[in-house]
Amino acid sequence: MGKITPKYENCLLSCVIVSDMHIDKKHPMPWLPKWMLKRSLSDCENAAVRQDAFIGVGDTTSRGNAVNWEMTEDCFKKHPSPADHILLALGNHDTWNDNGYDDAINEYYRAMKIICGRDFTKQFFSQNIKGYKFIIMGSIGDVGDAPVIGEEQLLWLDKELCEGADGGKPVFVFNHQALNGRHGLPDSFSANPPKDVDPMEGGIGKESEAVEKLLKKHKNVFFFSGHSHMGFCSEQWKKQNGFSNFEEEDGLVMVNLPSLSCGNHSCEDNRNGDGIVMEVYSDKVLLRLRDFRTRKWMENLAISNGKPYFEKKL
Ligand SMILES: [Fe+2]
Repeated sequence: MGKITPKYENCLLSCVIVSDMHIDKKHPMPWLPKWMLKRSLSDCENAAVRQDAFIGVGDTTSRGNAVNWEMTEDCFKKHPSPADHILLALGNHDTWNDNGYDDAINEYYRAMKIICGRDFTKQFFSQNIKGYKFIIMGSIGDVGDAPVIGEEQLLWLDKELCEGADGGKPVFVFNHQALNGRHGLPDSFSANPPKDVDPMEGGIGKESEAVEKLLKKHKNVFFFSGHSHMGFCSEQWKKQNGFSNFEEEDGLVMVNLPSLSCGNHSCEDNRNGDGIVMEVYSDKVLLRLRDFRTRKWMENLAISNGKPYFEKKL
C-alpha cells in the first residue's frame, strides 16, 4: 500500500492515466473490469496530493451501448471526484454499437455529460490544465480497428499543438491507436500475430503519417496510446526485441499503455491492473508505472537508465 505521492518536490501537475478498461455486460465476469476501474479511481481519489486529471485512452467499454456506459457511470458514481478533470478518449470499441456509429457516439456524449460534467458536440476536444494543453483525439467514424481522423481533426490538432507548445511547454496528446509500426506493431497487436500481417495493423492506419508530421513539428510532445493490450516491458526487453511502451523519435515521446482489465500480451509484465502516473515538473516529465490492484509503484521492471520509471528532461 502507499498513496500516490509525487516523487520530487515542486510537482506542478500530476495525473493518473489508464487505458482499455473494457467495461462489458457480456464479460464472463462483468464485475472484473468494473473492479479494476474502481480500483484505479479510488487510488487516484486517495492520492496524497489532489490529482489534476484522471485520463482514459479509449475502450472504456467493449461496446459503446447504453448498458455498458451505465455500468461505467456506476463506477464513477462510487468515486465521483477522483481528480479535478476526467478525460475519456474514444476507442474503437466505444464506437461499436448494434445500432451503428451515431448511436454509439450519442451514448458516449450522454455518459460524458454524467461522468465528466461537460457537454460534447465533437469526438475530439482539448483541456487546459494548469496552463498545459491536453489534447484528446477521437475517431469520427467506425471502420473497424483503425480510427477515422479526417481533415477537420488534423487542422484542429495542428492548431491545438501550436497553442500548447507555445513557449516550449510540453503538450500531451491522447489517441487510442499508436502511430503505425511503433511499440512492436503490427505484431504486438496480437498475442499470436499472423505471418502476413498488414504493416498498418493496430496503428492509426492511413492517416498515421499525417498525424506524425504534426506531432513532430514541436518540441516536448508526449503522445499516449493504448489499443494493443501490450503489457509493460523493460529496457532489456527493448534491447532484445527493439520495442517498448516508451519510445522516442525525433524528439517525440510515444507511450503505449497496457489494458487495465482485459488481459495483455507481448511483453514481460502482462498482468491486469496497471497504468501510469504522470508528474510534470518545470524541467522534466516523469512517467511512473502504477499497479492499481495493490496500490503500489511497479518497481520490478527497469524501464529507462536502470530506473523503474521513464524520465524526460524538458
Ligand atoms: Fe481495447
